[in-house]
Amino acid sequence: MGAAIEIVHLSKTFGTGKRALDKINLTIEQGEMVALIGASGSGKSTLLRHIAGLMPGDREPQAQLAVNGRMVQQGGRIGRGIRQTRAGIGFVFQQFNLVGRLPVITNVLAGNLGRLPLWRSLLRWFTDAERREAIHALNRVGIAACAFQRASTLSGGQQQRAAIARALVQKAGVILADEPIASLDPESSRRVMATLADINRTDGVTVVVSLHQVDFALKFCRRVVALRDGRVLFDGAAADVSAEMLRGLYGEDSDLDFGALAVPPYRPAAEELPQVAERRLLPPLQAALA
Ligand SMILES: Nc1ncnc2c1ncn2[C@@H]1O[C@H](COP(=O)(O)OP(=O)(O)OP(=O)(O)O)[C@@H](O)[C@H]1O
Ligand SMILES: [Mg+2]
Repeated sequence: MGAAIEIVHLSKTFGTGKRALDKINLTIEQGEMVALIGASGSGKSTLLRHIAGLMPGDREPQAQLAVNGRMVQQGGRIGRGIRQTRAGIGFVFQQFNLVGRLPVITNVLAGNLGRLPLWRSLLRWFTDAERREAIHALNRVGIAACAFQRASTLSGGQQQRAAIARALVQKAGVILADEPIASLDPESSRRVMATLADINRTDGVTVVVSLHQVDFALKFCRRVVALRDGRVLFDGAAADVSAEMLRGLYGEDSDLDFGALAVPPYRPAAEELPQVAERRLLPPLQAALA
């Protein structure tokens, strides 16, 4: 029912007096893949944390934020039943947030915890079906072979894909990813973005991903929302992002290579893509593989 994410008049003023979000109005429909871009300090992480219900906004009566039709917060107060609401929201962090000493599969199984009765989460007791599902999710993101390694032994890109597998097991209808590729090399970054794009396309999961790399935003996301000083400066199709808007976003002196934006879209090799039985790819990716 309704939009995947609905934000009305959301502001956030920190105790320091810093207004990190300024009257944000934003609707994201189910199945969209949206890039959130903006200079450092523009409010990307703060917005994602509000959407996930990790942080209440300012107590303004009109302020509302709903995910999957469930109230996350209203008037600066976190909604009742936030635990169930959060169970439908996967959060992927720049630092992966895996438990390094535990096997990858255990980390992925943790995606079930939001839905399980408390006694089962405390005992970390999982059924065979849940284990099979975790392996399936790892296969989906291309790292099933690493299932029984300690998470700390994986490369950064593999750890991030394990974190995405955890969100798959969680059966989140919405995945929020806060700079998931910031600490990865270009090759691993492409794989992680291709994995998110595949989940968005194949499963219809709504994805909102904050990115510093504008080229990745334009290649993998159909819609771009640009924040500046806590306000939405641009909201539209990736195809309509202009060098002029980006200059307004990052400043004339930014080290962004605007000329690079003119390069043709990324062409993945078949083996770069996630291992899925039946690949349904973004049209540009299909064209690239043809
Ligand atoms: N807990 C906090 N207390 C005070 N100010 C904060 C807090 N969290 C964020 N801010 C401020 O709010 C603004 C937005 O921060 P935010 O982390 O959302 O930016 P960002 O767009 O994610 O930046 P980056 O690209 O560097 O991750 C910044 O000015 C930041 O200093
Ligand atoms: Mg941030």
